[in-house]
Amino acid sequence: MDFSLSDSQRAVQTLAREFAQAEVAPLSREMDEKAEMPRSLPKRMGEIGLLGGPLPKEYGGGGWDSVSLALAYEELGRVDSSVRGLMTVHTSLVSQCILAWGADSQKQTYLPKLASGEWIGCYALTEPNAGSDAGSMESAATEDGGDYLLDGEKIWITNGGVADVALVFASRDRSLKHKGICAFIVPTNTSGFHREPMPGKELGHRASSHSHITLRQCRVPKSAMLGEPGEGFKVAMSALDHGRLGVAAGALGVAQACLDASASFVRQRRQFGQRIGDMQMAQAAIANMAADVDASRMLVYRAAWLKDQGQRATRETSIAKLFAVEAALRAANEAVLLHGGRGYSTEYPVERYYRDIKGMQIYEGTAHIQRIVIARDVIGQE
Ligand code: CAA
Repeated sequence: MDFSLSDSQRAVQTLAREFAQAEVAPLSREMDEKAEMPRSLPKRMGEIGLLGGPLPKEYGGGGWDSVSLALAYEELGRVDSSVRGLMTVHTSLVSQCILAWGADSQKQTYLPKLASGEWIGCYALTEPNAGSDAGSMESAATEDGGDYLLDGEKIWITNGGVADVALVFASRDRSLKHKGICAFIVPTNTSGFHREPMPGKELGHRASSHSHITLRQCRVPKSAMLGEPGEGFKVAMSALDHGRLGVAAGALGVAQACLDASASFVRQRRQFGQRIGDMQMAQAAIANMAADVDASRMLVYRAAWLKDQGQRATRETSIAKLFAVEAALRAANEAVLLHGGRGYSTEYPVERYYRDIKGMQIYEGTAHIQRIVIARDVIGQE
């Protein structure tokens, strides 16, 4: 078993680390406070090759393997989950999905623009009455001559406010349950496509754009369908196999950031005449975090490696997401505690890690859903 990274994997890790530290970190606190991300950031990510990473070179991508992509998500996740989230939705849920399911003409139309960052993508699955139970969606796709008319509502759509293109899921026959669902590639300037910010202020991921999308007689040609009629649920689930690896890797980055911040803090903070890092309770917290970070890393890289062997890694990806997110939740909880009062304010980034990581336990399949996916695979379904 070889745990070392190849030269090309290291190069991606360095690219993402340097970009995150030099160009994202200085902006993170302000983006969180203002609850917005400058458009220049994803544009720059496109320019340096982060957005198209796993796409083939013929579409303007970098031809990265899945391990490289996970490394890039980990490095961005160490610094800013909103930026990592934008990249995961754009690259894994949208671009990799079009690459897997698209016709040649769809790939040629969309992938170069998505790889360069000229266009941003979003993934519109969740609805007011269909969250975890995605197969029960109510959005309708009605045939009308050579077109489909899309009607319905989508909520919590990450990148929704800034996206140029959306993957939209809608049913052409709800009596068929998930077999009635179709996937469409919809430019967001299509007539009948409306979006507005989600109401309220999010706990974390505040620099992300979360949208409520309303589709009213949104007309798209039949050629906008991704995959065959009725294959939309599989399209959606396979996209989530990519996206969940991105969330798992991002959570690993958050846990690493909590460990780094905590180790640095307990080295310099003195109480009772000694460094708090010399006290056994602080040491236990740091040791638990370090063990969790290593275990998460093994699970995330294993899932990525399996994908690179051409294997479907649905179960391993769910295990990686479940464990890495819950490990990062523990790490963020301890990091805030170790920082004491300082950890409770925006003066230190650990309070943002604490707020951001909760979202990862919810989006792209809650921890409950990951447990369902894993248990069904272990036990089998009748
Ligand atoms: N890849 C390909 N096909 C898959 C698949 C996968 N990973 N998982 C399931 N399928 C297929 C099954 O094989 C089955 O196909 P057949 O009919 O041919 O047998 C079909 O899909 C239906 O599968 P299930 O019976 O397992 O479906 P289910 O209704 O019981 O649901 C579920 C399974 C795992 C609970 C699924 O509904 C699920 O993942 N729910 C969570 C949804 C989710 O993650 N939402 C987040 C959206 S994105 C987001 O968070 C916001 C954002 O902006 C990023």
